[in-house]
Amino acid sequence: MTRTIPKVELHCHIEGAALPDLVRRLAARYHIDVGGLFDADGGYRWHDFTSFLEAYDRAASVFKTAEDFADLTETYLVASALEGVIYTEVFISPDHARRSGIAYADYLGGISEGMRRAEESHGIVGRIIPLIERHFGPEAAIKAAKTAVHTMDERVVGFGMAGDERLYEVTDFAPAFAVAAEAGLKLTCHAGEVCGAESVRATLDAIPVRRIGHGVRAIEDADLMRRLADEEIVLEVCPGSNVALGVYAGWPRHPIVRLRDAGIKVTISSDDPPFFHTTVGRDYRMVQDTFTLSDREMLAFTQTAIDAAFCDETVKTRLR
Ligand code: ADE
Ligand code: ZN
Repeated sequence: MTRTIPKVELHCHIEGAALPDLVRRLAARYHIDVGGLFDADGGYRWHDFTSFLEAYDRAASVFKTAEDFADLTETYLVASALEGVIYTEVFISPDHARRSGIAYADYLGGISEGMRRAEESHGIVGRIIPLIERHFGPEAAIKAAKTAVHTMDERVVGFGMAGDERLYEVTDFAPAFAVAAEAGLKLTCHAGEVCGAESVRATLDAIPVRRIGHGVRAIEDADLMRRLADEEIVLEVCPGSNVALGVYAGWPRHPIVRLRDAGIKVTISSDDPPFFHTTVGRDYRMVQDTFTLSDREMLAFTQTAIDAAFCDETVKTRLR
């Protein structure tokens, strides 16, 4: 029974966790036009990676106040706790805050407050990873990195990059990552999702990351797989997201078990759950059912995630 397996999520974008109903409600409250954002069933409308990122950017734009973000974060963490999640790292985005017109301190404060409330009511522990967005370009990235290190909170533990992997070179963003590394933040970066193994290799060569967001397309290159295993790089695998975005034509084709069997450290996360009609509980369940894994094997994904979490050891000891 997957429901009873403790789960740890290392890869979820906070705005990407917003349920369509909440986005509709806030859009009405703030008189924001969200025409075309939803399909006939009320879910998010997108048809490929580019239109997904556009839909994501639009949904993010309806959150305006610290309380909007506190409510979003508390709602997401409580729902996760009810699926057995004990610890979650959420990605936040200084660029999306700026575009929404909310001061970064209020944005961060709201998200942190939502985590405090969820921990108090349901025991789930949350930590925060500010991200730069690749499609907003290297100049915005440097500014976002400076914003992120200037205004910290005890829950901020890492720094990363999401966005359109097809744009720019990863080396263009090395200065932004250097700002974060200098401030003591641990690094992760999306790669090997829409682009292939060469994107993962370029990321490892350019940025001192401990984890890769997705990274699943490393499966296309045996040398890279050996490198990931040898260097103990952890993959934040989001199988439901990959299947929804068409990276793999169905769950049976997903390489999560082949990556694990090659000795690579693999974890399970939901990415942007309502966009992909998933939840972290469903992702765990689909992996278990599709590949007929035992509860012990599922628990191993959670243990790998605890080891790879960016929080300090005291928190990890409590989780184990
Ligand atoms: N931002 C939110 N979700 C993302 C994904 N799956 N890939 C890249 N950037 C993202
Ligand atoms: Zn992601």
